[in-house]
Formats: sequence, C-alpha cells, structure tokens
Amino acid sequence: MSRNVGLYIHIPFCMKKCFYCDFVSFSDVEDDIIAEYFSSLKRELIFYKENYDIKIDTIYIGGGTPSVVAISHIGSLLEFVYCNFKVENYCETTIEANPESLDEEKIKFYCSSGINRLSVGIQSLNDVELKALGRIHTSKRALEMLELVTKYFENFSVDLMIGIVHQSIESFSDTLGKVLKVNPPHVSVYSLKIEEGTHFYNRYESIKSHLPSEEEERNMYWFAVQTLYSSGIHHYEISNFAKENFKCKHNLKYWDYEEYIGIGCAAHSFFDGYRYFNTASLEDYISRIKNGEFAWEDRQLIDDFEKEKEYIILGLRKIEGFELSEFERRFNVVFTEKYKTQIEKLKRYGLVEINSHFKLTKKGIDLANIVWQEFI
Ligand SMILES: C[S@@+](CC[C@H](N)C(=O)[O-])C[C@H]1O[C@@H](n2cnc3c(N)ncnc32)[C@H](O)[C@@H]1O
Ligand code: SF4
Repeated sequence: MSRNVGLYIHIPFCMKKCFYCDFVSFSDVEDDIIAEYFSSLKRELIFYKENYDIKIDTIYIGGGTPSVVAISHIGSLLEFVYCNFKVENYCETTIEANPESLDEEKIKFYCSSGINRLSVGIQSLNDVELKALGRIHTSKRALEMLELVTKYFENFSVDLMIGIVHQSIESFSDTLGKVLKVNPPHVSVYSLKIEEGTHFYNRYESIKSHLPSEEEERNMYWFAVQTLYSSGIHHYEISNFAKENFKCKHNLKYWDYEEYIGIGCAAHSFFDGYRYFNTASLEDYISRIKNGEFAWEDRQLIDDFEKEKEYIILGLRKIEGFELSEFERRFNVVFTEKYKTQIEKLKRYGLVEINSHFKLTKKGIDLANIVWQEFI
C-alpha cells in the first residue's frame, strides 16, 4: 500500500533580499537558470517515483518567493506531479506569495492549476516598518493584493511579524485590525529573529535602539492571541492561528511527526526513517541533479531515542501539545515514567501542563527555549 507523504517544493528566488531573512533565496537570477532549476525539480521527483510507492496528500510550494517566477513554471511542475504520482483528492496545495509579485492574472492561474491555498507575506501594514524591514511593497499594495486574494481563495493565510524595528503595540494593533477586515481564515505571527549573515545581523548596533523591548514583543504576541481569538481564529501552534477547518495540513505534518519529502535547493526531508536536506547552492543543486546524483548534504538515520526527543519538541509546538497515549503507541514507552524528572521540574516552574496531553502553559510558550533544553 502506498504511504502518504507531504511534498515541499522550494523555490529559491526573490526580487530582493529582505533585511531579516536567512531563507535560501537568490535575486537577479537569469531566466534560463530558473528554467534549468525547474527541470531539476522534475528530475529529483522522478527519483522518488522510481524508488517508492508514495501518495502525496499535501503540497507546499515555498521559498523564497514562488510568486516571482513565471506561472508557466508553476503550472508545468504541478502537472508533472499529478501525472507522475498518486495525489489525494482535494490535496491541500499551498503557494507562498509576496504582494509585490502577485497580480490578478497569477492568482487566477493558481486557482485553475490546482492550488487551493495561498500564503501571503504581509509582515506589517505600516510603511515605516515595511521600509525598515527592506520589503519592496507598500501597505497599500499589500492591502490591494489581500482584497484580490479573497475574491479567488477561500483558504489563504497572512504572515505577520512582531518585534520589528519601529513597531509599537499601537502600530501592531493597527496592522492586525486592517488584516482582520479581509477576514483571513489563517494567520501566522512570527517573532523577528536576528539571524546570522542577514543585513540586520551585520547592522545590529545601529538597529537595536529601534527594536521593541522583549516585554513589548511579548505583549504584541499575547495581544495577537486574544484579538485573533475574538475573531474566531484560534491559536493552534506557537506562531499559527486558524479558523475551524483551516489549520495548515502540510505544516501540521511537521509537528505531528509525519513524513514529508522536500524537493529543491536547501529543502528538508523527513522520510523513510531519515532526516536530510539538499545543498543550499543553486549551482551545485542543478549540476548534481543533472549528473544523476543526489543533492543531499547530510542524511542521518534517526534512532529511537532521537525520534522520541524530536516528537516531544515538535509536539509541544502545538497549543494542545501531544497525547500521552499516542506517545506510548508510537514508542512503546510510558512518557510520564521515562521523563518523570523533566516533567516534575518543568511543572514546578509552571512551564508545562499534563493530563491526557502534555503541553506548554502560557509561561511555557514565552519560555519555550527552556523547555526544549530539557529534552535536547
Ligand atoms: C519564506 S517567507 C515566505 C513569503 C514571501 N517570501 C514573503 O516574504 O512575502 C516565510 C515567512 O517567514 C517569516 N520570516 C522570514 N524570516 C524571518 C525572521 N528572521 N524572523 C521572523 N520571521 C521571519 C516572514 O513572515 C515570511 O513571510
Ligand atoms: S522574507 Fe520572503 S521575500 Fe523576503 S527575502 Fe525572505 S523569502 Fe524573500
């Protein structure tokens, strides 16, 4: 019987690199290289087709910014997937988009090519903040695109950021209020992380006085939790919120510890007992796949102990946590016995709660890194 897997496809192209972003993406790439990249993605898919009996039940086209490439590339890639694999009926199929590179023609095309979920990177609806983030769109453009998305997509998501340069609780409240006017069924709220190698990292000394304090950032987070809840958009993962039936099925696979394969430059996979990721170099990816080689950079068999730890940490990202009976079924281990010391300690600090599920408390969400440390 075929095994169900999620398919992640990485599109590593952007119009311009944002100041905070360390996702693998390149700008100013020539069209013929982009075309070669799409041919490589198809070749990589063939490897899975020839070696495994899989059924794809979620597809996530992420990046980078998939909406910057010509729609014909996206259309032909999806057609290739449908022609070569079993694909679940009503397979959740997401594409990430940026307001600057989106237009009505693209949105219509996505709808007609089987894409049924759009994730739009808005980040903020304040022009000073957008400029400070190095975004290339204005808040006006972002709102126009969101309005357009609602015309064609019932299922869409909005990415927002908190803790960003020049942001205040008032400006975040204003952004959130405007976003809620388009009635999104799904919202992601990411806390800014200053990643090594980014423009922000290199200029940290000059931006740090413009960043909200940790306390202000946490206030924004809990303000988002409450405000979204009042609009029927419920907190289901540390950074994710959804209306009933609109949780992201693909991303839930990561937190539920299910299998997925990642295709493309820098894409990660968790498949057949292994975790691995592809080379982050575009040239290397294209040339290795062209030569019939794997583009894997690191491929590790996950042993049982490692699996338990990963399951705990990923499961705790969900607001409902993970079910103790499911842990026992998967690992043949009684969680409360094996991890008694860690549980007692974390309970004493008020960071976790345990009944039929093991989950973070509100304090545990704010101090999640301390919780992860106990299981690493
Ligand atoms: C790969 S981007 C996809 C969307 C599209 N490229 C765009 O930016 O509009 C995914 C999301 O990750 C978030 N993100 C990226 N870098 C981040 C960072 N350093 N800290 C917090 N969130 C980040 C942003 O909200 C972004 O929309
Ligand atoms: S945030 Fe999105 S648009 Fe900006 S560089 Fe990263 S992937 Fe590209």
